[in-house]
Amino acid sequence: MKNQENGGSPKFASKTNQQDAPALSELFKDSIADLYWAENHLVKTLPKMISAATAPELKDAITSHLEETKVHVQRLEQVFELLGEKAIAKKCDAMEGITKEGEGIVEETEAGTATRDVGIILASQKVEHYEIASYGGLYQLATTLGLTEIADILEQTLAEEKLADGKLTDIAENEINYKAAEEA
Ligand SMILES: [Fe+2]
Ligand SMILES: [Fe+2]
Repeated sequence: MKNQENGGSPKFASKTNQQDAPALSELFKDSIADLYWAENHLVKTLPKMISAATAPELKDAITSHLEETKVHVQRLEQVFELLGEKAIAKKCDAMEGITKEGEGIVEETEAGTATRDVGIILASQKVEHYEIASYGGLYQLATTLGLTEIADILEQTLAEEKLADGKLTDIAENEINYKAAEEA
């Protein structure tokens, strides 16, 4: 993905730059502001999921991803800085909806059950997939706009979102789904 430096031709050539495409650049900044809201919102909502979860491996996975999420917020602040912009959050309706759905699942399931844990995993994976889609798209857009340093920052977070998603899949596959099936 970083083959621009060593002479390889990138899939998406950076022929565009911010000056050439002000509307695209505006869209990029807006999307970063949206993601900044989303990550900040997750810092507030993930602790609720940690306390609602029962399986220690699930609690641990969300706890370590909460720590990563705090770094995601800082990385976006770095992106704003590189853009020469103030860090401003723009409400992300999609993330608000996904996290509300997660809270709804917690309310509708019984505490201490594997069924609730399954619900928490489902909701958490929707969050991760939203983030993967956002960071993946913005990474590509940053590359198109010639914002290489920003693209690198976004790529780091993208990798962590993918790992978090994979970890949740493992937890579901290895144990929790079976336990929940027994409860039913
Ligand atoms: Fe994140
Ligand atoms: Fe995440």
